[in-house]
Amino acid sequence: MTSDTAWLGSMPETYDRCLGPALFAPFAAHLAGLAAVDAPVRVLELAAGTGVATAELVRALPDATITATDLNPAMVAWGCERVPGATWQPADAGALPQPDASVELVVCQFGAMFFPDRSGAFAEARRVLAAGRRFLLTTWQAVEASPFPAALTDALDATLPDDPPTFVARVPHGYHDPAQVEADLAAGGFDDVAVERVVLTGEAPSARTLAEGFCLGTPLRFALEQRGDLGALCAAVGDHMTATLGDGPVEGDLAALVVTAR
Ligand SMILES: C[S@@+](CC[C@H](N)C(=O)[O-])C[C@H]1O[C@@H](n2cnc3c(N)ncnc32)[C@H](O)[C@@H]1O
Repeated sequence: MTSDTAWLGSMPETYDRCLGPALFAPFAAHLAGLAAVDAPVRVLELAAGTGVATAELVRALPDATITATDLNPAMVAWGCERVPGATWQPADAGALPQPDASVELVVCQFGAMFFPDRSGAFAEARRVLAAGRRFLLTTWQAVEASPFPAALTDALDATLPDDPPTFVARVPHGYHDPAQVEADLAAGGFDDVAVERVVLTGEAPSARTLAEGFCLGTPLRFALEQRGDLGALCAAVGDHMTATLGDGPVEGDLAALVVTAR
């Protein structure tokens, strides 16, 4: 685990409260609809985080056995409480404990960007999937395509002009080239890949809620801690984001790639 992939202490709670409904819930519902299409009985979720997509999978597939995994034990502990209808297990997507050909669907919502060896992790997904079954994953488009992370990046540039943290553009929004995703899936053993650009709408109670989520509930936190007082930096980022997105409830496009591989 590195400072780009760690969720510790209070981070799962902040992520879930501030970013879950705003950024991840819209795609969770979309993905669960796709997941239900061929009625899988055994489902494995990778990088499940706090369980935003897991909850939708449990709802969409009431008869399925859903195993939700994540690298970070703090995420697994939070997800376990939040979505008890799934079985939770710590696991690195690059070294899954599941036996070969043991599930009918693998799902990964906004996790692949964090994997250090993506084709290796995709090969693991391929290994645990029964023959001909699907791997569903999502990855964010570049920050410029979505107003919330774009406003965050501008706020970080304004707050820390000499040394703005690069985490958000580099990691969660750094894996957006469809050709690269297809090549990595091919290297992992998938030969039937469909990539669709999907834009959904995100909503949050305020720009400051988003700032709190990004600054305190993601690994951006570690980069900010190295640069100054975390609370003060988070407040300054919240002020800049409010100036960009406006006071009160905010709404914005969320642009992602939704990928089906077989
Ligand atoms: C942006 S969060 C997405 C969480 C969740 N899928 C959602 O939609 O809210 C990324 C997640 O990837 C997990 N992660 C990072 N590297 C991982 C790895 N190598 N294996 C499994 N999970 C990993 C993190 O712990 C984190 O929970």
